[in-house]
Amino acid sequence: MAGKRHTRAELIALARNAALSAHARYSGFSVGCAIETEDGAVATGSNMENACYRLGVCAEISALTAAQQAFGLAKVRRIAVAGGRIGEDGTLAGTQTVTPCGGCRQSIAEARDLSGFDIEVISASGDGGTSSSATISALLPASFGRDALRDAEDQARG
Ligand code: THU
Repeated sequence: MAGKRHTRAELIALARNAALSAHARYSGFSVGCAIETEDGAVATGSNMENACYRLGVCAEISALTAAQQAFGLAKVRRIAVAGGRIGEDGTLAGTQTVTPCGGCRQSIAEARDLSGFDIEVISASGDGGTSSSATISALLPASFGRDALRDAEDQARG
């Protein structure tokens, strides 16, 4: 829902909460992602694994898909990610910060390319105690994008 923008701590809390809905029975590593727009609307997602391991989906992709449905990728401004194991108290635990994998960075860059806004990516530990922040352009320099396809498009159009 749109409204006031969330604080960094609130966005991390939303990502940690999303991780509780992960389907991560094979790795035991639950990841949650919360995506925010300029006006405070949020979409969330979590990783979804599969018995055919390679079909697993990362939390960021799941959240980006929800964001596209909720408000469109061009409105994405901030993304928080947190991952770890679910502790005995039912909350997300772990002390290592989780930065998006390379494939997810490419998908976040697609959202940046739509709006031209350099999306902030907040990487948090499972327990939420540690976090760092970087732009997607810093996390994925010299990324592949639509511009690189222009030659093929020109050829296809004749
Ligand atoms: N995972 C994510 O969801 N996001 C990341 O950025 C890194 C990894 C998931 C994939 C897999 O289900 C589990 O974490 C272990 O790699």
